[in-house]
Amino acid sequence: MKEPTRSKQVSDCSRPPVRWRRELRGVLIRQTQIAHRVRKLANEIERDFAGRDLVVVSLLNGTVLFLADLIRNLSLPMRLDFIGVSSYREGTESRELILTKELRLEVRGRDVLVVDDILDTGRTLKCVLDKLRELKPRRIKVCVLLEKKNCRVEKVRADYVGFSIPDLFVVGYGLDFAERYRNLPFVGVLRPEYYHIG
Ligand code: XMP
Repeated sequence: MKEPTRSKQVSDCSRPPVRWRRELRGVLIRQTQIAHRVRKLANEIERDFAGRDLVVVSLLNGTVLFLADLIRNLSLPMRLDFIGVSSYREGTESRELILTKELRLEVRGRDVLVVDDILDTGRTLKCVLDKLRELKPRRIKVCVLLEKKNCRVEKVRADYVGFSIPDLFVVGYGLDFAERYRNLPFVGVLRPEYYHIG
């Protein structure tokens, strides 16, 4: 198997659109950069899963935009299911994890691609991967849009990574703060003074 292309490192922000300037410090990843990178990830995934019985397992809710763009770029047979995981979060701190939706599809003996929005401490993916492994799939690969490299608490790695980002709280393109900002077509950095406003 060919080595996946390295994730793109992003650290500089550009000015957000006027509408969002009060809440966002900047745009970290622009819409065009995302579209380009998602196509690249889809190409890699297509190549690695060609001829396999693929089940894509996406984590709700943060993956909605990423997942839709990723799978529309995948031209290989696949099935799709979701796992709901919610962390009782206060502010931007991850807390206890609860499962809000169980997997329905049979994955035993199949190839599974787990799709998540962001790999931060790794607690969410560790919990999901432990559960999935009990179901005895043939193999599991992980695809994330973003990763914060220096924040890992659990030993989890992703096979496909869109962008490596600094330890900033980001929103947009599916990522939220208190369920807001998911609809932004770019990834932006929230101003710290907005972390505690509901
Ligand atoms: P862990 O720490 O478990 O984090 O790897 C995974 C989940 O935490 C949320 N998360 C974020 N959400 N901006 C967000 O909007 C962030 O910067 C951020 N960091 C972590 C997210 O739900 C992710 O699936």
